[in-house]
Amino acid sequence: MPATSLDAVVSLCKRRGFLFPGSDLYGGLQGTYDYGPLGVELKNNLKRAWWRANVYERDDMEGLDAAILMNKLVWRYSGHEETFVDLMVDCRACKSRWRADHVAGGKCERCGSADLTEPRPFNLMFRTQVGPVADEESFAYLRPETAQGIFINFKSVVDSTGRRLPFGIAQIGKAFRNEITPRNFIFRVREFEQMEIEYFVLPGEDERWHTRWVEDRLAWWVSVGLSPDNLRLYHVPADELAHYSKATVDLMYKYPIGWEEIEGIANRTDFDLGAHSRGQGELGLHARVAPNEHSTAKLTIPHPDTQKPVVPFVIEPSAGVDRGVLALLCEAYDEETLPSGETRTVLRLKPAMAPIKAAVVPLKRNAPEIVETCKAVKRDLQRTGEMRVVYEDTGNIGKAYRRHDEAGTPYCITVDFQTLSDDTVTIRDRDSMRQIRLPISEVYDYLRRGIAGQLAEDAFEEPWTE
Ligand code: GAP
Repeated sequence: MPATSLDAVVSLCKRRGFLFPGSDLYGGLQGTYDYGPLGVELKNNLKRAWWRANVYERDDMEGLDAAILMNKLVWRYSGHEETFVDLMVDCRACKSRWRADHVAGGKCERCGSADLTEPRPFNLMFRTQVGPVADEESFAYLRPETAQGIFINFKSVVDSTGRRLPFGIAQIGKAFRNEITPRNFIFRVREFEQMEIEYFVLPGEDERWHTRWVEDRLAWWVSVGLSPDNLRLYHVPADELAHYSKATVDLMYKYPIGWEEIEGIANRTDFDLGAHSRGQGELGLHARVAPNEHSTAKLTIPHPDTQKPVVPFVIEPSAGVDRGVLALLCEAYDEETLPSGETRTVLRLKPAMAPIKAAVVPLKRNAPEIVETCKAVKRDLQRTGEMRVVYEDTGNIGKAYRRHDEAGTPYCITVDFQTLSDDTVTIRDRDSMRQIRLPISEVYDYLRRGIAGQLAEDAFEEPWTE
């Protein structure tokens, strides 16, 4: 059963080293979190799975890693300078500030006063100074979406790869928003990561591709471990659309705080490439864009039939890495009462997402031969660098299993006295708590099959005898 309370997940994350409040040592910095030893592995597994599915396993995608700092004109022509705002109200009684649509019942969340100012716009982009001279012109914005880095590199990618429609560019990277009220753990933060695709299509084919991407993206979230019952679509009404969007479908996940957006899939039309082409024209910069045989200097691509330059439409699946990590944690969190009456907390992450794939545990910590064998088994399993395996000797074996249940480690490999005579070990399965004894030489393949989801349900034969 997925977590019903966010507090339980937050507490596990801190206790086990998934996530820590940002700058905790100095009293914190609101809206920031640091990923700990387990968190960084989980996050990297999620990002890798996204990259694999959207770049390696497709024939129509290229990757990109654009700079976070961009010329501020990017944000002028993208429309963000003018429109990337939330409405904000002040509480006159306690001087706190709130996002207007987060104020329930017209009352201040902190002091309960109804004496609030009229809503006024607040731009969410962070500014930073570039270079040593601090004047009004020498600033840049921290990007509030990774997407613009893709749009401004569109032409370079087309020219360097020879891509033709339809094709996409994928990017994973940090984004920053000066959220008025960051809240709900890593759900709404000021520094986060996005996994974004800009998929370029012929105008007129955009709606078909939009539908297809919604289906693809929904299926992908299920593939990494979210239950279809906890996912649903929200067709964003016209009056809620972002300034660039003709239509957006949000993928909503059932977090303990309610149904909330994990990913937005927008039909951005030719808004962005059109806006940057216009920017080039207005600023007289066309001459600086390297011309190629097919295009004018605008951000265009040859039409596949007529070869005439066309500004493509864009379908944009834009997912939040942090919201994805939170969803995986909420989905996987389980508390179960054992026959002994003890409650065990277990993270039922898909093995492919688990931060640690296997822990090698000595039956006895002070038996040198057992410890040596454990270390050799760990080294052998890590030989290809494919999986993170740890040596675990904190506490007795029962405690080691509990620690790794909470960390989501799918397999614990135990080296005992029998190992020393016949080179076999036991592998304990996190979810069923059943085990199997195998020759050490077969463990690597067994784990690989487990991580790929290829082990049969009854792969672990013996009941747990802890
Ligand atoms: N390029 C389009 C774009 O940025 P968005 O709906 O504003 O669209 C996309 O953001 C995704 O980024 C969201 O679905 C969410 O997962 C994530 N996201 C946005 N703001 C966030 C925040 N303050 N904290 C964490 N994740 C956020």
